[in-house]
Amino acid sequence: MAIEKTFLMVKPDGVERQLVGDIVDRFERKGFTLCEAKLMTITEDLAKQHYAEHSERPFFGELVDFITSGPVFAMVWEGENVISVGRLMMGATNPLESAPGTIRGDYSTTVSHNVIHGSDSFASAQREITLFFGEEAL
Ligand code: TYD
Ligand code: MG
Repeated sequence: MAIEKTFLMVKPDGVERQLVGDIVDRFERKGFTLCEAKLMTITEDLAKQHYAEHSERPFFGELVDFITSGPVFAMVWEGENVISVGRLMMGATNPLESAPGTIRGDYSTTVSHNVIHGSDSFASAQREITLFFGEEAL
């Protein structure tokens, strides 16, 4: 058993499209536990820190503009293998590979406006939970 925590975030497109309830519902029905949540607008500084690994990529500017363009719903979820299972429930980054039944597969057709973010590893979960909710949320 690996009980872990992960950071998930409904992006501005998902909040705007009123998908927060559906997304929370999917993770609750799966059996995961919501530990922290807040509706917030990300500053440019926080966006650049959160997506630091992509700072040299050509899409970085648009990514920062998008993630700061409106409120996001930031969350910490806990459960068995929640980091990797959460990624499966999100669906792949590439819209040609995000299967129907997944969040991205059901709600998004583009790589840029793809409704949800989720930590991709234990290290990124620790980093992102701390960045958004502080060390006490780990
Ligand atoms: P990435 O970490 O590769 O994907 P994921 O969100 O699945 O972990 O990329 C971060 C975000 O950057 C991605 O959700 C959407 C955006 N992005 C683009 O706009 N264009 C791209 O070509 C890629 C790879 C990502
Ligand atoms: Mg990523």
